[in-house]
Amino acid sequence: MLKNTRTAMRSGTLQRVCKNGGRLFHSSARYPLGIAFDIDGVLVRGGQPIEGACKALQQLFVDPQDPCQIRIPHIFLTNGGGVPESVKALELSSLLGVKILPQQLFLGHTPFKTLKDRFESANVLAIGKGEPCTVMSSYGYRNVVSMEEYVEHFKDIDPLAKYKKWSTNNDIRKNTKNVYSSNKAIDAVFVVSDPVDWGRDIQVLCDVLRSGGYPGRSAGNQPYLYFAADDLEYQAAFPVERLGMGAFRIALESIYNGISKTPLVYTSFGKPSVPVFRGSEIALLKLAEIVKPDVKHGNFARLYMIGDNPYTDILGAKQAGAPWFSILTRTGCFKGEDNHDQYKADLVVDDVLEAVQYIMKEHKIELLQH
Ligand code: G3P
Ligand code: MG
Repeated sequence: MLKNTRTAMRSGTLQRVCKNGGRLFHSSARYPLGIAFDIDGVLVRGGQPIEGACKALQQLFVDPQDPCQIRIPHIFLTNGGGVPESVKALELSSLLGVKILPQQLFLGHTPFKTLKDRFESANVLAIGKGEPCTVMSSYGYRNVVSMEEYVEHFKDIDPLAKYKKWSTNNDIRKNTKNVYSSNKAIDAVFVVSDPVDWGRDIQVLCDVLRSGGYPGRSAGNQPYLYFAADDLEYQAAFPVERLGMGAFRIALESIYNGISKTPLVYTSFGKPSVPVFRGSEIALLKLAEIVKPDVKHGNFARLYMIGDNPYTDILGAKQAGAPWFSILTRTGCFKGEDNHDQYKADLVVDDVLEAVQYIMKEHKIELLQH
């Protein structure tokens, strides 16, 4: 069974191996529930599982090692990223001790898939920690260059480089089918994950965006600019929240608008944007239809968003409206006693295990002893 599971995970075809379907649903056009888990600050903090996270996830499976036996459809809805969904699924599986499939991962950059047709042949600059080029190539973008590789084409573009005793060593000509040529303009910039070298990246982005896509040349039309998310802060290992992609966006925008004649034009994805929650609903429905193949075209009676950040997770669920129900944990950005002042969750709990126990009780689902 484990072998089949691994084969299914590699090919991403859960449907082929899940012949028996799930064991929870009755034949009804409406699925009773689905769950979207935030990752940083709910399940993981600083690369380590948060207490109760593994136990909470195990409750969603008849057998946690077998993704065919999911009891409750669930996805992982994060503003983070930097690696393809398939890689993140394997990382999380090993960290949290349950089998997680690539189609259960909705990363900050996952919506970039929807722009593929528009930019498939365009020259794309991909920025951020991890493997931004590999991510974009996995979505079908053909001409992608990483910031690390790009700056090598422009002598002296970063005057501070000689003072840097470190290297981001990020995604340079690694696993990418990169056919980028330095004498072509950049058509679009994608900030895929948290930028590592803010100073260099802001400098080079100002150059690219002001010059019509070719640093060193005179002013031109701004290339397209997309951010995977807009979190001002997120919870990592340090006790106080860290600056996120939204903070980088503010820094870039402020500087760009100070030196450019026209204001910066950009689009940000990620929570709390409503299309991200709609995309999650579709992902959950597909999962539910695989778990229970005889029920088609249904929707959910209740969808839970379990998050730690009132400004992304809770606001997003509120904006998406029914059937979303927001649960705020105290294991990440939110550390208050009661509820958040501005964006009140439907329920506040100590941690994700308490959230899952609440959901199971609400829906009269038996707690399992794995
Ligand atoms: O970089 C990760 C951060 O932006 C938020 O991740 O899982 O809390 O949405 P998450
Ligand atoms: Mg979070």
